[in-house]
Amino acid sequence: MSQGAKSTGAMGVLQSALKFGPVQRTARRTADWVDLQYSLLLEQIAKAAPRARGRLLDVGCGDKPYEPTFRPYVTEYIGIEHESVFAQTNASTGARRPDLYYDGSRLPFEDASFDTVLSIQVLEHTPRPMPLLHEMARVLRPSGLLILSAPFSARLHEEPFDFFRYTPHGLRAMCGEAGLEVTEVWDQGNLWSVIGHKLNSFLAFRVAGIQGLAVEMGKHTQETSLGPDSKSRPWSLPFVVPAMVAIAGGARVLDRVAPDLTETLSYMVFARHRAG
Ligand SMILES: C[S@@+](CC[C@H](N)C(=O)[O-])C[C@H]1O[C@@H](n2cnc3c(N)ncnc32)[C@H](O)[C@@H]1O
Repeated sequence: MSQGAKSTGAMGVLQSALKFGPVQRTARRTADWVDLQYSLLLEQIAKAAPRARGRLLDVGCGDKPYEPTFRPYVTEYIGIEHESVFAQTNASTGARRPDLYYDGSRLPFEDASFDTVLSIQVLEHTPRPMPLLHEMARVLRPSGLLILSAPFSARLHEEPFDFFRYTPHGLRAMCGEAGLEVTEVWDQGNLWSVIGHKLNSFLAFRVAGIQGLAVEMGKHTQETSLGPDSKSRPWSLPFVVPAMVAIAGGARVLDRVAPDLTETLSYMVFARHRAG
């Protein structure tokens, strides 16, 4: 039997094991924790959610993963998606779906009709981010809050709909142009999380080649750039998984004890309409 056939067999066993609830839950929890981009974003979302209120619009909502976190704080949660981009990039089979679709030009709502506008990791996916930001500002009430997260350092994803990365200065300038004022900026980890995330991505996808397993667990379903599992090495997992856990833990500690704020995975900004 060839090496490739052996790998496919071992990968098949792992994929079958993942169909069992307890195995799947443990694997998913571990995969989420070592995925610093995902776990640090979820921590930010949980911290930001109590600031939301009233009617909330989630622009570029995907399969609305943050709805349960925001629900306790808002009266209504509406998720909208760009119809054609969503159809081409989001292969998710998540239980929640967008409430509405639009053509990417005008959000189908009256001016000033939302108390909170949420947009998480969307601004890099449109070739015309300024008109989208103008639309978010238009539908936001004068007293409303925009919560927006956009990547500073992320690998290519949802290709070819991956156009930009953002700095806090760029986000401030863009919000300003849309009539909004950024009141706070949060970074999502710093240098060590960036290094840790890149290392863990390399170990998972280039060394162990477990993109198929990740998709099986509902992760990275839109990352076509990762390619198929042709080079999967499931036998490396007993070494790779502990290394990834140590890297993720070490990065979190180093971010605190030796911070370097010139790097981060992503920025989350809070913005309001400019007074006067
Ligand atoms: C990386 S996904 C993020 C999805 C979701 N916000 C999340 O965090 O899981 C980016 C999403 O932005 C959507 N998108 C791209 N351009 C858009 C636009 N102009 N208006 C609204 N959504 C858009 C895509 O369809 C895609 O679902």
